[in-house]
Amino acid sequence: MTDHSDAISANKARWDEVVDIHLGSDGLEDGYDITGAKAGSNRLTVIEETELGSVDGLDVLHLQCHFGLDTLRLRRMGGRVTGLDFSPKAIAAARSLFAEAGEPGTFVEGDLYDAPRLIDGRGAFDLVFVSWGTICWLPDVAGWARIAAHFLKPGGRLYFCDAHPAGLMIDDRGDQDEMRRGRVTLRYPYFHETAPLELDWPEDYANPDAVVQNTKTFEWSHPISDILNAVIGAGLALEWVHEHDRIAWKLLPIMEKGGHRMFRLPDDFPVRVPLSLSLSARKSG
Ligand SMILES: C[S@@+](CC[C@H](N)C(=O)[O-])C[C@H]1O[C@@H](n2cnc3c(N)ncnc32)[C@H](O)[C@@H]1O
Repeated sequence: MTDHSDAISANKARWDEVVDIHLGSDGLEDGYDITGAKAGSNRLTVIEETELGSVDGLDVLHLQCHFGLDTLRLRRMGGRVTGLDFSPKAIAAARSLFAEAGEPGTFVEGDLYDAPRLIDGRGAFDLVFVSWGTICWLPDVAGWARIAAHFLKPGGRLYFCDAHPAGLMIDDRGDQDEMRRGRVTLRYPYFHETAPLELDWPEDYANPDAVVQNTKTFEWSHPISDILNAVIGAGLALEWVHEHDRIAWKLLPIMEKGGHRMFRLPDDFPVRVPLSLSLSARKSG
């Protein structure tokens, strides 16, 4: 097996660093709405709200939970929540967030692939929840799906929504006037490669004025067939797969706000482009 530890360490340094930036982004235009989440007055994105269904009374495992803001939303929807993330700062912030909100929640620090060793919960969860900015940080999508399946109860469900691998091919650094005319260029690979893409990512999506030190990150592409085959190969039955022309972050600079916590291409963009993907898959039993 290829050793990706240097790439994972660089990613971890990046995610650790941006936790404070994200905690400070409350109230900014594209920032995290921490005040709203604490008050229970805001929600998951419109895609998740439409597709997820009730989580009331469910045991929910939130993989790659960042600093727990969506975990808090899931808690406020009635879930008994456990979150996992490899960033120590994110996990510390998630625990503080839940303490301040007066809500129960369990948070575990560790790499995604170590989750079965770190969380004593084989077959213990009704819902494994994975959303927005997740599998691109993972070298092995089949291993990711096996982990989701490991934690699901018989009859439990994996819900996943994230960037569409076709949308992720577009050059986000291209000329913006050309982009507006629909003349985009492709910069990133569609198909998976063992070696990660090495990226220089100086901006932060929640606070464009933030100065980030750990700009070097490593990501992996996962085509739709790999994602679906990973889920099927993990023994989960696909219930549905949806493609959307919206996404939860400003993937391209020409994007506009597109409804509750979403971004979309401008109305006069010449074609509709798939920007995100969601699926539901169930463990038999
Ligand atoms: C874009 S954020 C996900 C946002 C999240 N959906 C939310 O609720 O805010 C990506 C998260 O993945 C985590 N992450 C990246 N690689 C990881 C890994 N190998 N194991 C565990 N967590 C990882 C990062 O620390 C970060 O918190």
